[in-house]
Amino acid sequence: MAYSIGLIGAGEVAQIHAELLSQDARVHLSHIYDLRGERAEALARRHGAQAASSVEEVLGKCAAVYICTPNTTHVELALQAVAAGKNVFCEKPFAIGLPAAQKLREAVQQAGTLFQVGHNRRFAPVYQVLKKAIDEGRLTPHSVHARMNRGELLNPPWVWNSKLTGGFLYETPVHMFDLLRFFFGDVEWVQVAAHAREHGELDDFSILLGFTSGLHATMTTYGHATWHFPFERFEVFGHHATYETFEMDRVSFTHGLESATTTLTFNQLSRNDCWGYREEDRLFVDALEGKCAVAVSADDGYRAIELIEACYHSARSGQRVHVATLQADTVGAQR
Ligand SMILES: NC(=O)c1ccc[n+]([C@@H]2O[C@H](COP(=O)([O-])OP(=O)(O)OC[C@H]3O[C@@H](n4cnc5c(N)ncnc54)[C@H](O)[C@@H]3O)[C@@H](O)[C@H]2O)c1
Repeated sequence: MAYSIGLIGAGEVAQIHAELLSQDARVHLSHIYDLRGERAEALARRHGAQAASSVEEVLGKCAAVYICTPNTTHVELALQAVAAGKNVFCEKPFAIGLPAAQKLREAVQQAGTLFQVGHNRRFAPVYQVLKKAIDEGRLTPHSVHARMNRGELLNPPWVWNSKLTGGFLYETPVHMFDLLRFFFGDVEWVQVAAHAREHGELDDFSILLGFTSGLHATMTTYGHATWHFPFERFEVFGHHATYETFEMDRVSFTHGLESATTTLTFNQLSRNDCWGYREEDRLFVDALEGKCAVAVSADDGYRAIELIEACYHSARSGQRVHVATLQADTVGAQR
């Protein structure tokens, strides 16, 4: 019996998931809802699904649901789906602000349903190479620099507006916060300097992170760099060892003082494979089948939000912020 899965939102990212889910024989892509009915109809037609006329209709017809709507709508829709007992795949970010993130994490814990967050980069082959090297002890990170730039905050036309995005860090940089935890474990504190260069929003960050392991790392993220490659990059240095990623296309590594550098390139793969989308969707269906736990949990989603809020708090106060001392009631989504 195939799992009936529905989509809420039929925009760009929903099209990726619809394509991948309809290629998985274990899935019946059932109902799709979008505020703009013509989008739901077009996507449903392409994949043999049905356009729904409401969120409730999708929840009534499907065992699991993908939330693919704009950032600020995730929590409300996710709470509704969890309350209806549905298994949920929710696009990033998990929530905007700590109070909402806490509310959603608690609701998921109480419901006991499956909840996966769309941090697809974990499953990009370049990041799998780096993760495996760390997990298998071939690389012990001593020094780390991460970078995630954007070319502009002009396109789409609302991307500069923190009322719609939650803030610059909630857009693509949220992936880096998840990856930093994925590779290096929990973060104990952050110290941040930030500027608002355009649009009156903080869009230029230099971040120092201290991990519970004792490792420290730097991350920079800037909104207006032009799309000069690589705008996304990790540099990880161990004892006489270096790993460098270049977008999600390429990873280079060198072990030892007199050894050659190995470079693996993945840009011949489709974007769905290279960016980890196919693998995250496959793993979600595996979790539905009971084969494994969800690959990126509600707690993982929460922790990325907690890090973002710690960064905004440090940027505003100029203080080092200990992540565990952040209070949900004192840290809101306002910038
Ligand atoms: N993981 C990734 O790599 C990745 C990539 C792109 C987008 N995203 C995330 O996915 C989400 C959607 O982004 P997108 O680029 O697909 O946006 P989009 O604007 O292309 O699509 C969003 C769709 O949601 C619909 N919508 C808005 N509010 C709705 C509601 N309450 N109920 C039903 N439909 C509603 C809109 O009409 C639109 O069609 C965002 O949160 C974004 O951050 C993640």
